[in-house]
Amino acid sequence: MKKKITLIPGDGIGPEITKAATRILEVAGAEIEWEVIPAGLNAMSQYGQPVPDELLESIKRNKIALKGPITTIVGKGFSSANVTLRKQLGLYANLRPVRSIKGIETRYKDINLVIVRENTEDLYSGIEHIIAPGVTESIKVITQLASTRIAKFAFEFARKYGRKTVHAVHKANIMKLTDGMFLDATQEVAKSYPEIAYKEIIVDNCAMQMVMNPNQFEVLVLTNLYGDIISDLCAGLVGGLGVVPGANIGDEYAVFEAVHGSAPDIAGKNMANPLAILFSSIMMLRYLGWNEIAERVNFAVSSILETTDIRTRDLGGTASTTQFTEAILGKLTGVKSPA
Ligand code: NAI
Repeated sequence: MKKKITLIPGDGIGPEITKAATRILEVAGAEIEWEVIPAGLNAMSQYGQPVPDELLESIKRNKIALKGPITTIVGKGFSSANVTLRKQLGLYANLRPVRSIKGIETRYKDINLVIVRENTEDLYSGIEHIIAPGVTESIKVITQLASTRIAKFAFEFARKYGRKTVHAVHKANIMKLTDGMFLDATQEVAKSYPEIAYKEIIVDNCAMQMVMNPNQFEVLVLTNLYGDIISDLCAGLVGGLGVVPGANIGDEYAVFEAVHGSAPDIAGKNMANPLAILFSSIMMLRYLGWNEIAERVNFAVSSILETTDIRTRDLGGTASTTQFTEAILGKLTGVKSPA
């Protein structure tokens, strides 16, 4: 029987890249029945809200979703659909593996680190006020519970995958209470993992060190905002936003999505790089225990990158989204791509 998975096509380049990914998964042999439900701008005309109840029900039923990027609706009284999804489904951990990819030329060759970003609080709590004309306030919420939970997730990940170091990233020198509480929690959790070296680094220094010497990092655990920013920085080290995957994971549900957004500047132009959502799909296949299919897709992608110069424009190539997708499909089926 086919596995039912919720598919959110998303906004902007979302439909183009999710179409590429679902075609590739199908040809690779993944037996999936997609339950397609919109979110974000795409959901507004049909449902009148960016995160329809039908979507939440579908993910709760299927436990797993593949998601295209969603355009954040600005100034219309709706909170971010991404934040809503993560909160409503308890997707507290945002996992973003950042790896050098053979065949994609970058400054560094052997980056292999993982960003573990707290997904539910911090400045993303959406608590903002106008104090007086010309004066606004945004509240940063950090709790012991969420900090402990994300620290445990990071250390468990490090233990499971044999990573030797976890860096807690913070700005507790300035935000003594909030980031201080985050550090108290990471220090406490670290005591239960004596085989893993625990280090702390201030976020601005982390940004600099990441550019100078990224290989010193293996696993980084960060609050929401620092995780958002540092993971985009990391994407830049391995080829840009078009190649970095992600997963939002909670105790019950998991939603797989690329790190990048809806890229309105290239939407509808058949220019988007589908690699990030494809790597996210590979993470999803592994999460499902479908390792053989995951390897098949990975092998096809690696073959294209290592043995051809077929690339989308963000990677310096000339291939369209469809040409790049066809090339991967060609590898999977053994048919040579015309691209
Ligand atoms: P973005 O990630 O959409 O785009 C940044 C730059 O990277 C653009 O020049 C874009 O063309 C390029 N880019 C991104 N993905 C690419 C791909 N797959 N292939 C080739 N080039 C790619 O970030 P931006 O412009 O800040 O955000 C646009 C919208 O997306 C906003 O509404 C934002 O809130 C939303 N967003 C949604 C996310 C999600 O749904 N998870 C994550 C980040 C942003």
